[in-house]
Amino acid sequence: MRHFLEIAEWSTSELDQLIRLAVHLKLEWQSGGNQPVLGGKVLGMIFQKPSLRTRVSFDVAMLHLGGHALYLSPAEIGLGQRESIADVARVLSGYTQGIMARVFDPAHITELAKWSSVPVINGLSDHSHPCQALADVLTLYEHFGQLRGLKIAYVGDSNNVTRSLAEAAARLGMKMSVASPRGYQLDTATVQAVAAMGLELDISDDPARAVAGADAIYTDTWTSMGQEQEAEERRKVFPPFQVNADLLQKAERHTVVLHCLPAHRGEEITDEVADGPQSLLFPQAANRLHAQKAILVRLMSNKYH
Ligand code: CP
Ligand code: NVA
Repeated sequence: MRHFLEIAEWSTSELDQLIRLAVHLKLEWQSGGNQPVLGGKVLGMIFQKPSLRTRVSFDVAMLHLGGHALYLSPAEIGLGQRESIADVARVLSGYTQGIMARVFDPAHITELAKWSSVPVINGLSDHSHPCQALADVLTLYEHFGQLRGLKIAYVGDSNNVTRSLAEAAARLGMKMSVASPRGYQLDTATVQAVAAMGLELDISDDPARAVAGADAIYTDTWTSMGQEQEAEERRKVFPPFQVNADLLQKAERHTVVLHCLPAHRGEEITDEVADGPQSLLFPQAANRLHAQKAILVRLMSNKYH
C-alpha cells in the first residue's frame, strides 16, 4: 500500500505515470465522464486549516470517480487533542478506503500514515504541499508539452509550496531558481535533499536574477496559514519580491505565471499579472481536480497500475 506524503517519495517514472494518468482522467472526464473506478469507496478528509481548492477538488474527484468524500472539520476531529492520532487513524481505517489530511505539524501526517491501514494523502502541512506540486507540473506539461529542461523561477516566501515544487523539479529534470529575502530562504535540509536528487537550486535574494530565462514564474502568499502573527513584519520585507509587470518583463515573452492560490492581490502578485495573458492561475487551480484524481486512483484502486 502506498501513501502520498511527499513528492520525493515518488520516483521519476512514477511521477511521469501520475501525470499521464491525470491527463487521461481529464480527457475521459471531458469526453462524457469518468469510469466509476472508486465506486463505493470513501475518502475521509481531515482539515486543521481552511481550504477551497483542496477540499472541493478532492470532494468532486471522489464524486466523479463513483466514490464519496467526508469533510471532517478541525472542531470535529480534534486531531491529537480529543483523541490520539494513532486512534483516529485506526478508527478511520475501519470506515474509509483513504484518508486525506491538511495539518500544521508535518509529523501528524507521518503519524497518521504509520497507524492507518488505508492510504494517506498529504493535503498540505507547514512543511510541504505535494498535491499542489503535482497539479503544477501537470499544468506546465500541458502548456509546454514536456517538462525536462524547463526553468521555474520561484519568487517570494520559501515555504511548503516551494519545497514540494523543488522536489518535483528535481524528479522531473527541471531547473529552478528561488528568490526570497534573507531569513525567508529554503532550509539547508531541503536544498541538500533536492541536490541529492540532481537539482542544483539557484538561490538568491534577487528576483531579476531568478526570472532571467525562466519558462515559468511562481509565487505564493507572503504569510502562510499559521503565520498570521508575522503578517505585519512580512509586509515590510517582501514588497521587492512582488510578481508584477516590471518583473515579468525581465523574463521571456513565453514565460507563464503560476500561483497556487489563494492570492493576495497587490501583495505577492498584481492584478495585471494574475489576470494577464501570461497567467495560468485558473487552469492551474482547475488541474488540482485532475491531479487529485490520478493520486486517488493510483492509491485506492487497482486500475491503471
Ligand atoms: N492551493 C490550495 O491548496 O488552496 P486551498 O488552501 O484553498 O486548498
Ligand atoms: N503557503 C500557503 C499555501 C496555501 C495553499 C499556506 O500554507 O498557507
